[in-house]
Amino acid sequence: MGTSMGSEAKTAVVTGGARGIGRAIAERLLREGYRVLIFDVDRQTGTSTASDLDTLGRAVFYHVDVGDETSVRTAFEGMAGRGHAPIDAVVNNAGIPQPYGDPIQSLDIARWNLYLAVNLTSVVLSAKYAHPLFRGGRGAIVNIASTRFLQSERNTFAYTASKGGMVSLTHSLAVSLGPEIRVNCVSPGWIHTRDDLLSPEDHAQHPAGRVGRPEDIASLVSWLVSDQAGFVTGQNFIADGGMTRKMIYAD
Ligand SMILES: NC(=O)c1ccc[n+]([C@@H]2O[C@H](COP(=O)([O-])OP(=O)(O)OC[C@H]3O[C@@H](n4cnc5c(N)ncnc54)[C@H](O)[C@@H]3O)[C@@H](O)[C@H]2O)c1
Repeated sequence: MGTSMGSEAKTAVVTGGARGIGRAIAERLLREGYRVLIFDVDRQTGTSTASDLDTLGRAVFYHVDVGDETSVRTAFEGMAGRGHAPIDAVVNNAGIPQPYGDPIQSLDIARWNLYLAVNLTSVVLSAKYAHPLFRGGRGAIVNIASTRFLQSERNTFAYTASKGGMVSLTHSLAVSLGPEIRVNCVSPGWIHTRDDLLSPEDHAQHPAGRVGRPEDIASLVSWLVSDQAGFVTGQNFIADGGMTRKMIYAD
């Protein structure tokens, strides 16, 4: 909290900020006084989210495909010209959130490569092109992975591998970019981002008593990018209502 406005305003890039968890992160950082640059491939939703959240002229939409190097480079390199650099934080949240794919016998390698590009290579690309823009060379990066880095359902190869890579990449980046730039990861469990109705059982199976909300992730991200987390880097934080701590053997 307490970030000042105008030319002193802190600036955060939130990828995939058009909807879902990314939108909640964007909203939270805006409330804390950041200018938020929403990077998203969905132009229509991204534009309307930026205008919904933009009460103070501090939410800006950038049309970016985070898995495409030219697109990411163009966005970051264009930032200074638009008066949006330097930056203080990057939240790599954009991803293909659907974990389920084909059985191994019919694995579609083009689809595998797409998942790795959008969910994993995107993190390297944003670090590469954001790096020169951090204010005084200092800042914070937060990557949004998934508890699927740790556990699997059947036929979720590409999603699981991409999120596992993200957790490992987090400590590799932290050691390489520190001490100036801290890099951390948040691994959400089930976060309700769609309009579908949840059952009492959906909530009750969680040790915390409920399915997660986008705001649960946003509050953790907000702490991680703040100076209060100044001694924290290279870590992965699980926010899953306790699900990965439950024994799952059938009764
Ligand atoms: N919702 C959950 O239960 C859950 C659980 C664990 C992890 N996650 C992770 O959290 C992140 C956000 O998930 P969500 O549920 O809010 O998803 P969502 O589908 O609601 O939002 C994802 C956003 O990313 C954008 N996006 C997708 N591909 C892109 C690309 N190539 N370039 C730029 N933007 C792109 C989409 O347009 C969308 O706005 C994802 O990385 C997902 O894997 C979600």
